[in-house]
Amino acid sequence: MTDESKGKQSLQPVPITVAYGDGIGPEIMEATLQIIKAAGARLAIETIQIGEAVYNRGITSGIEPSSWDSLRRTRVFLKAPITTPEGGGFKSLNVTVRKTLGLFANVRPCLSYSPFVATKHPGMDVVIIRENEEDLYGGIEHRQTDEVFQCLKLISRPGSERLIRYGFEYARRYGRHKVSCFTKDNIMKMTDGIFHKVFEEVAAEYPDIESEHLIVDIGAAKLADSPEKFDVIVLPNLYGDILSDVAAQIAGSVGLAGSANIGSEVAMFEAIHGSAPKRAGQNVANPSGLLLAAVQMLVHIGQGDVASKVHNAWLRTIEDGIHTYDIYNPSVSTEKVGTREFASAVISRLGKKPEKLKAVNYPAEGKPISIRLKERRKQTKQLVGVDVFVEWNGSPESLGKRLEEIAGSDLALLMITNRGTKVYPGGMPETFCVDHWRCRFQAGANGGNVTHEQIISLLSRLVASGIPPIKTEGLFTFDGQPGFSLGQGQ
Ligand code: IPM
Ligand code: MG
Repeated sequence: MTDESKGKQSLQPVPITVAYGDGIGPEIMEATLQIIKAAGARLAIETIQIGEAVYNRGITSGIEPSSWDSLRRTRVFLKAPITTPEGGGFKSLNVTVRKTLGLFANVRPCLSYSPFVATKHPGMDVVIIRENEEDLYGGIEHRQTDEVFQCLKLISRPGSERLIRYGFEYARRYGRHKVSCFTKDNIMKMTDGIFHKVFEEVAAEYPDIESEHLIVDIGAAKLADSPEKFDVIVLPNLYGDILSDVAAQIAGSVGLAGSANIGSEVAMFEAIHGSAPKRAGQNVANPSGLLLAAVQMLVHIGQGDVASKVHNAWLRTIEDGIHTYDIYNPSVSTEKVGTREFASAVISRLGKKPEKLKAVNYPAEGKPISIRLKERRKQTKQLVGVDVFVEWNGSPESLGKRLEEIAGSDLALLMITNRGTKVYPGGMPETFCVDHWRCRFQAGANGGNVTHEQIISLLSRLVASGIPPIKTEGLFTFDGQPGFSLGQGQ
């Protein structure tokens, strides 16, 4: 390709899909599009409808099949916030879009704009990169007994690896020096444990970037207290959801943060705040979160020149004290403006740079970060037992005795736990028990492999004895290492 044709190609409008959303969505989207178009964004926009109106037509996902076609066609989605109707049956559209389109990394820059936006942390510049598809967000929940409800937490090695690699690649591309990882692997040794393990493995491939792991409770406390000590943070989904709100809020306001949901094919850009229905239709909402998401989008589609122009004009507007009600503060603000006036103020500053805040300078053209997972050999998996979950309203001893009678010679009852605490054999009378018991069976006295047939026969005997299983979990070893946790107190 000649330089000339390359230049021409980058001037071609890039197809994107836009959704105006609910609540304040339409107003902030209009303001955002107006600004980026005035800055020269080269876009061919397809508009889709999502959210309330679609839910109200009885579509529980909030998005119609034709909209998926648009997203698959354009692969770039600029999305305003939507309202998920209350009450059962409606699924979060955000989560559906992220998971359906494989948007594995949620990138949330949380930056302070001191002294123009009040914050206790003037030096803060943290990018939260949150895993976006797994963890407790699977939404796989069950009521298993009269008393107990369960949500499955699924963390995968490839899911963790692509997110963590993205974090390190992001750090390299944007000149950041450190990647921190927060997990709770002192408790969840297997799920959070694999996330942490993969973090250590990947970190070793980036010796130029500092890395650290913190247990999430103390990590969160340190982030809230001294965010300037952090740079990029990678986290599993739920911790990332919580801590990105904390980080955005202590930087100044959740209302100012944009986010990029990055997949290998498609990417979605949105504000991190919600649809604020109470503020809708009043021309008061701050469009900054969505505008900064649109800046991330412009960088993603290779229009970094336009992204820099928009971002710098926005910084200058903030610095000039032109503020919407949510960040208005008489000591630094010069004018309280509405959504439309704020957009006009940014447009009138296109081409200008901030004088006190740090100006941005995105590469004019650039390819999105792409991630390749490391090849891995599948480990040898062997069945060595089964955890059978049952409902029982008696004592641990009475259940233990019954199960020992039912267990055969090939599968022995090893222990019973209640909410993870060992209660049989040798439980403590103080342990509070509910009606949900995990009963572990393993091969004979010396362990060893068991067969599925042996397990099925055990389950049949349990059903016949009036203790039907709620569910079972196979106990496997992988290359000889147990793939299951032990009971607390075992
Ligand atoms: C976010 C939001 C979403 C989430 C909700 C709306 C499903 O809080 O983008 O952080 O939990 O991920
Ligand atoms: Mg959230």
